[in-house]
Amino acid sequence: MSTVLVNVRYEPFTLPGNDMEAGLLVSLVLFLLQPSQHTEVVIIHDYTLPGVNKLVESFSERWAATTILTATPAPDLSQLLVALTSFHTNDLRYMVLLCSANTTWTVFDMVSRHNLESRRVRWLVVGEDPYLADTLLYSVREGSMVGLTKRTTSDIYKIYSSYINHNNQMRFQEVGTWTGSNESRLRHPLFPDIVKLYRDFLGRELVTSAVTHMPFIQVKILKNGTKVAERGIDVSIINTLSSHLNFTYRVMVPADRKWGVVQEDGTVTGMVGDVHYRRAHLAVNEITITDSREAVVDFSYPYFFDTTSIVSRGPTEKTRSLAIFHPFSFLVSVHVVIR
Ligand SMILES: *[C@@H]1O[C@H](CO)[C@@H](O)[C@H](O)[C@H]1NC(C)=O
Ligand SMILES: *[C@@H]1O[C@H](CO)[C@@H](O)[C@H](O)[C@H]1NC(C)=O
Ligand SMILES: *[C@@H]1O[C@H](CO)[C@@H](O)[C@H](O)[C@H]1NC(C)=O
Repeated sequence: MSTVLVNVRYEPFTLPGNDMEAGLLVSLVLFLLQPSQHTEVVIIHDYTLPGVNKLVESFSERWAATTILTATPAPDLSQLLVALTSFHTNDLRYMVLLCSANTTWTVFDMVSRHNLESRRVRWLVVGEDPYLADTLLYSVREGSMVGLTKRTTSDIYKIYSSYINHNNQMRFQEVGTWTGSNESRLRHPLFPDIVKLYRDFLGRELVTSAVTHMPFIQVKILKNGTKVAERGIDVSIINTLSSHLNFTYRVMVPADRKWGVVQEDGTVTGMVGDVHYRRAHLAVNEITITDSREAVVDFSYPYFFDTTSIVSRGPTEKTRSLAIFHPFSFLVSVHVVIR
């Protein structure tokens, strides 16, 4: 089921002679979204892209679940927030951005500030602003999946997909070319399956937040200040993960040396805070999964259950609906103990 979230505010606007442009854009976007009936699409546009008004019109006609947000003169951030947080199902949501680099920056800046990266949101950025790719590289954070098109000649587009490289930097890789003909194929998926994607971290160095807590983990601090996970059950686990998933790791200790809670003012402390604020990619320890922690980080499958306790999983869908999702924090957590 899909809902239209906000009123369509469509302002008729004609650029002479842009019907062909519009036709191309419609086919390109349809090809890249490969729409299924369970997909919701939110189109955010300003009027900088030739043909965009026709595209918008055509989309709202053919796709009931389309929401149109105009970004002129600036994107309405409260509407955007609604579009990004009102998830009622497990469906994917496509956000199609047809904007100047400037507006695109504003949108992703808001996503970062509200921690709205989500694996259920896929961003498709189509535009002709020469600064678009650079803008994305410094405004998109890990956790947002972004597809980008770049026009090379009048009807050939190169298609790129975002990924995090071995130096932990956001980059785009070419996944195919679109020529407008039916034979256009992508060599790699525009939005790769996140579970497959994170089977190979490309040798990245992940920062792991930890505090000493035996028998799970002992963190040793060397003379030069370097922290090393010395021994414990969790050290074996993370070493195994690191060789299977192709990453190395560096240990940090949270300033307060605590597990972490979500405080009344919304700030998050301890190891949970390190992950939430992205100082660390993951935390490893005996960490109890609670509703409030689940609202700010993701937990891996629990691998330790306290035999003397009753374990019950919180209502994950409720918190997931806030779309607070760092895909790499699958690894986070670790043990479930309900005391
Ligand atoms: C981009 O946005 C900033 C801040 O809103 C504004 O000052 C600037 O003029 C904009 N630049 C362009 C090229 O529109
Ligand atoms: C691990 O990452 C390195 C560096 O990116 C890469 O060369 C290598 O093929 C990867 N190893 C595996 C087993 O995937
Ligand atoms: C600290 O010392 C360890 C062990 O001698 C060494 O491996 C590491 O590179 C040093 N780190 C720094 C930042 O100097």
